[in-house]
Amino acid sequence: MNYIKLILLILSTLTANDTAHHFASNKECKACHSQIYDEFSGSMHIHSIPQKDPIHKAIWDKHPQNKKQQCYGCGKCHTPAADNLNKMLTKGEKALPDATNPTHNDGIACAYCHRIERIEKHKKSNTNIISPVEKKYNGTRGEHIQSPFHAISTEGNALMKNGNVCIGCHSHKRNKHGLNVCSTNIANEMDGANCVSCHMPKVKGSVSDMTKRETHAFHGFAGSHYHSEMLTHYIDISILREIDDFVINIDNRTSHALLLHPLRAAVLKVSVIRDSKEIKLDNKQFIRVIGHEGKPAMPWKASTTLRDTMIKANEKRSVKYNFKLQKDDRVDVTLGWYLVNPKVLKKLGLENEAVASEFIAFKKEQFEF
Ligand code: HEC
Ligand code: HEC
Ligand code: HEC
Ligand code: HEC
Ligand code: HEC
Repeated sequence: MNYIKLILLILSTLTANDTAHHFASNKECKACHSQIYDEFSGSMHIHSIPQKDPIHKAIWDKHPQNKKQQCYGCGKCHTPAADNLNKMLTKGEKALPDATNPTHNDGIACAYCHRIERIEKHKKSNTNIISPVEKKYNGTRGEHIQSPFHAISTEGNALMKNGNVCIGCHSHKRNKHGLNVCSTNIANEMDGANCVSCHMPKVKGSVSDMTKRETHAFHGFAGSHYHSEMLTHYIDISILREIDDFVINIDNRTSHALLLHPLRAAVLKVSVIRDSKEIKLDNKQFIRVIGHEGKPAMPWKASTTLRDTMIKANEKRSVKYNFKLQKDDRVDVTLGWYLVNPKVLKKLGLENEAVASEFIAFKKEQFEF
């Protein structure tokens, strides 16, 4: 009897140190955190598998590991709550993303994020260390009523409080050539602003259905796909009229580049309205192109950055237009982006996917003279 107990104990500690943990499903949170659950359902964190994101699918379809029908290393960040995560991270194993597996479908699951205990820094990508205690979730509120479903930890989770809980996945991702494919370039301290205060601002509605609170942290994760309107106040657009030309200034008051993923293309569209006619000026594009031997390449092949005109963290970018403004002219400015650079749409077979090919107008301004 005691032997069996001992073996079970050893086995359970072994699995606790393993990369695959068991997580309560997102649905289990819905019963008491309905508003947070609804917001989360409309975020990229729940659309993180290829089956729920055509852009991800297009890239994964071309990936050498997928062509060999092998492991989905992407799972480290895209399906971190997967019950077969260990296999996904082991070369040679067959472990593909599966939309019929609920632990894959839960994406960056609620319970996963709320159990990140600490983050190990690594060169290729960081690693989240998960607390072995199953139903104890990290929060930030000093006082709360007890939850009948789970324990709450507010001590010892500085990561939650200072907004750094995100950087296990968002800090950097280097490929085998050492190129940083996708980076937030953490300088996560900016007049008190951090990942969480910008991307999870406080919005109306209670934290749980069992408590009456005025506000809670927004779980729709405002970003380039969804709810970008919640972030417009971090980018200012102004105009400077000169004698023969004018300048549009874009002031990025963010601690990272305007867009981070190398697929994106930001565009500045400017037109002058004169005598109720529209004069369109040339579009200006901001991109970061990665490649190999002088040519653009897929993220796993790229060895260098070929060109980088993206607006950087805290940069004020000035774009000059050789156009002489007159009295009563109006200048219409739109800053926005394509999630996938129109130049590579066809190559990726995404030309008919609205999410990839449509222009997202982020911020509009009008200036009258
Ligand atoms: C039976 C109801 C119930 C269920 C189910 C439930 N919670 Fe809670 N949870 C609560 C209550 C009540 C609070 C305290 C709310 C307050 O103080 O306003 C809470 C608080 C929290 C907090 C802490 C907030 C803070 O900063 O202190 C987190 C994090 C949390 N829940 C996560 C989850 C997750 C993740 C799930 C699903 C895996 C879940 N909860 C399921 C009732 C529940
Ligand atoms: C180290 C963590 C990490 C790993 C590993 C990772 N990703 Fe990602 N991925 C991210 C993050 C974070 C984002 C969001 C970045 C952004 O929007 O700027 C992202 C976004 C993407 C996007 C953009 C999706 C869209 O809708 O625009 C694609 C495509 C993508 N990843 C593909 C992959 C593939 C394929 C793999 C595996 C070969 C992979 N990723 C591995 C963290 C990771
Ligand atoms: C377990 C890894 C992981 C953690 C932790 C994580 N993210 Fe993400 N995040 C991702 C991945 C993967 C994507 C891309 C999903 C896709 O596009 O398929 C993403 C996408 C995003 C996006 C883009 C949304 C959009 O509309 O394009 C934002 C914003 C974001 N995350 C913010 C955060 C914040 C804030 C935190 C911390 C509170 C955080 N993330 C923690 C993995 C993670
Ligand atoms: C990517 C990481 C991440 C995911 C996924 C995530 N949360 Fe959170 N959650 C946070 C962070 C960070 C905070 C603290 C926000 C703050 O203090 O402003 C938080 C706060 C909370 C709170 C307290 C809200 C408040 O205003 O005090 C609850 C409750 C909660 N989360 C439940 C959930 C539930 C339920 C889900 C899934 C439907 C979920 N979380 C998914 C990161 C996450
Ligand atoms: C001062 C506010 C601010 C801070 C701090 C901030 N962001 Fe952002 N973030 C923005 C704005 C503004 C955008 C661009 C608009 C958009 O994508 O909706 C953005 C875009 C993003 C995107 C989408 C990029 C893409 O290419 O799709 C991700 C992912 C993201 N931020 C993650 C993070 C993470 C992780 C942190 C913390 C390390 C962070 N942000 C800190 C304001 C902020």
